[in-house]
Amino acid sequence: MTTTFKAHPVRGRLNAGFFTALDGYINWLVRDMKAKVFAALPDQVVEVGPGVGANFGYLPPGCQLIAVEPNPHMRRGLERRAARLGIDVQVRTVTADAIDLDDQCTDAVISSLLLCSVPDPGCVLSEIRRILRPGGRYAFLEHVAAPEGSVLRGVQRVMRGPWAWAFEGCSCERDLAAVIRAAGFASVEIDQYRLRSPFVPANTQIAGTAIA
Ligand SMILES: C[S@@+](CC[C@H](N)C(=O)[O-])C[C@H]1O[C@@H](n2cnc3c(N)ncnc32)[C@H](O)[C@@H]1O
Repeated sequence: MTTTFKAHPVRGRLNAGFFTALDGYINWLVRDMKAKVFAALPDQVVEVGPGVGANFGYLPPGCQLIAVEPNPHMRRGLERRAARLGIDVQVRTVTADAIDLDDQCTDAVISSLLLCSVPDPGCVLSEIRRILRPGGRYAFLEHVAAPEGSVLRGVQRVMRGPWAWAFEGCSCERDLAAVIRAAGFASVEIDQYRLRSPFVPANTQIAGTAIA
């Protein structure tokens, strides 16, 4: 099943503004994890849901990047940052469950804070696996559900509605480690960690790599 993405005229822009304004802070919070999972990326990469380019600093200079980003309000910031960092970006305005790229066309796919936002993360992961060559790497960072019964899980439940409204359908209650492990990759490595940030529902996180 493919979905259509309809950026909200106000919240679509607000999200672009939010991630532009807080990019430095969020990247600082997760700097160790991003340095680990996005290390030594090749010269050609596909990023799914790059937003305004939070991960562009981890790409090698001169990198050819295909950016799968359906929110048109992200585009200006994304292209500006790519130009500043010398990244040759090509934007595809499609959703991640129907990526308009050939099978086995890349050695690296990256994403951050994507699988929390899409309607069907399993479907997106099968698209990512489809476009990766055998042995290719999917490197990711996500926020996930806190352990069942914990105070934080209760906070995530209470915040469910307003959080999804503000962040265009984002869920803090997904066990994405399990979804990634079940997605058919040859191998998966995942670190779990907890941030201390004011964005409490998103403080339980995972980062890792999956090999096709
Ligand atoms: C929470 S933002 C994260 C942006 C960026 N990766 C970051 O870490 O700052 C989620 C991103 O996923 C994109 N997105 C949402 N639904 C999507 C879909 N179905 N397919 C592809 N991208 C999607 C949004 O437009 C947005 O850029």
